Amino acid sequence: MILICQFCYNDEDEANAEIDKYGQGYWCGYCDGYTYIKPIEGQHRFSLLLEDKQASNTPAPPIHVSLKKQLSLLRYPGGKSKYIPFVYAKMQTYQSRTLASPYAGGASLELALLEAGVVDQLILNDLDVGIYALYWAIKYVPDELIARIQSAKPTHEQFFQSQRIIKSDYEGCDLIEAAWHTIFVNRMAYSGIYCANPLGGRKGKVKDLVSRWNPANLCKRITQIHKLSDKISIHNMDACTFIEEEYWRPNTTLFIDPPYVQKGKQLYRCYYDKEEHVELNVLLDSLHQGMPGADIILCYDNDPLIQQLYIYPTIETVGRIYSI
Ligand SMILES: C[S@@+](CC[C@H](N)C(=O)[O-])C[C@H]1O[C@@H](n2cnc3c(N)ncnc32)[C@H](O)[C@@H]1O
Repeated sequence: MILICQFCYNDEDEANAEIDKYGQGYWCGYCDGYTYIKPIEGQHRFSLLLEDKQASNTPAPPIHVSLKKQLSLLRYPGGKSKYIPFVYAKMQTYQSRTLASPYAGGASLELALLEAGVVDQLILNDLDVGIYALYWAIKYVPDELIARIQSAKPTHEQFFQSQRIIKSDYEGCDLIEAAWHTIFVNRMAYSGIYCANPLGGRKGKVKDLVSRWNPANLCKRITQIHKLSDKISIHNMDACTFIEEEYWRPNTTLFIDPPYVQKGKQLYRCYYDKEEHVELNVLLDSLHQGMPGADIILCYDNDPLIQQLYIYPTIETVGRIYSI
């Protein structure tokens, strides 16, 4: 068979070509680019879940294990626990044992799948040092975090002070302090947004401020996640660097949930401008087209930019989800 390079269009005979060990593709003898020979089977799929509230209602795929959807400590705008059935269904076919999450945030979906044994290993990454610090504290010093939560008597002043520290990019904080300010503000700000007003308003009552501050439940979750911590590794790097590294790990699915295109700036300390969404697109498309590696599940809000950028993934538009 004559093979044609997808990059330089030179042709060569399959008998002389440098075929990869899976027999899925070959490296061009002229430009060294990788081209697939056969449709990809088994590993290496790329799907895009597009969240669109206007789209027709979408049935959730059935789940055959019991999943704890509320293990995460963080209230996270854009949290993806609602996608658990979709990702679970894909993981059943992919059979990856490792889930790598470059934009972990609250990681509710990731933690639920690990806890239920759907995967054996979680690799969590977030560029926001406060989020990283929280996972670090749960993994290495859970008792210190628990002690702080148990002894806290939250006030509005403390809320504003923690918020100022977060806005200063945690100036002068070690990781346990950064974890503390992150959880404190997250549980007491409107919708968990770090720069939002406290629940009940700036001059509200303490009982409203603490309406999402349940120390016993938070400590229980810390203990539950800590018990899994041998199976969790944590990173604090730029997502694209993380993806470039983890793409090559065997039996891995990358669950990629970037900041929203439209609202990211309002919600997260680390967000993306258009150029960064484009950079991510170029990286994912080139990895996917370039050589077999991890399976990819990408989630986005249904923005025209994303529809325009992505051509390789299988796209599923998800409207309001209902159980069948
Ligand atoms: C959409 S949220 C993820 C929500 C998460 N999946 C959940 O269920 O809670 C996006 C996350 O990406 C992180 N982030 C933004 N830019 C990043 C970057 N360049 N590298 C790594 N993480 C980044 C933000 O800090 C935020 O936590």
